[in-house]
Amino acid sequence: MGRYIAPSLLAANFANLQHAVELVNESEADFVHLDIMDGQFVPNISFGMPVIQTVKKIAKKPLDVHLMIVQPERYFEKFKQSGADWLTIHMEACIHLHRALQEIKELGMKAGVALNPHTPVSSLEEIITFADLVLIMSVNPGFGGQEFIGTSYEKIRKTKKLIVSSGSGALIEVDGGIDVNNAGKLFDAGADILVAGTTVFHSPDVLKTIHELKYAGL
Ligand code: DX5
Ligand code: ZN
Repeated sequence: MGRYIAPSLLAANFANLQHAVELVNESEADFVHLDIMDGQFVPNISFGMPVIQTVKKIAKKPLDVHLMIVQPERYFEKFKQSGADWLTIHMEACIHLHRALQEIKELGMKAGVALNPHTPVSSLEEIITFADLVLIMSVNPGFGGQEFIGTSYEKIRKTKKLIVSSGSGALIEVDGGIDVNNAGKLFDAGADILVAGTTVFHSPDVLKTIHELKYAGL
């Protein structure tokens, strides 16, 4: 069980992305989280490959790319070429999830599957042993700065049980509305990786906030 932090660049100042990535480099964070939105799967458009490529040149930590796009399999190779190390796709956006996860792994990336708040943990049963990561959305995807959905704790506990009983080595990542008050409880519930955008990049002291998230509740 890990205690990893993945700052989401969605909340960073895009006019000075280099500075944001350098702060993550200097910090105790473990990944750089990049949110890709297509305006179809979610009602928002964020950024694409050129931004990932730019971040890759500066980042000293693995790129954790969260695809909120329909038919994500159209772009796996492009995301690999752009520098993605971990690639997470939504269960709700992918008809052939089993094949898609295999393709991501064959390209040399770690493969994640994300669940929207309404998607039950039981839907992971047949796929859990093929995933390197399960991303539990603790807000409805599409925007930063939303309120954490409290039922996510139970969802994390259920996912953890499924991972243990199936023998899967998948990590649990949680994304949305995470701050220094709920981070400790999320790790206790079974989360390995916490994504935080607003909490990290709207903080007056980014390095200190990342430290507080990583050691929350200890
Ligand atoms: C939401 C994104 C999140 C977002 C989290 O659709 O997947 O990664 O950046 O933002 P905060 O931490 O502000 O809730
Ligand atoms: Zn995300």
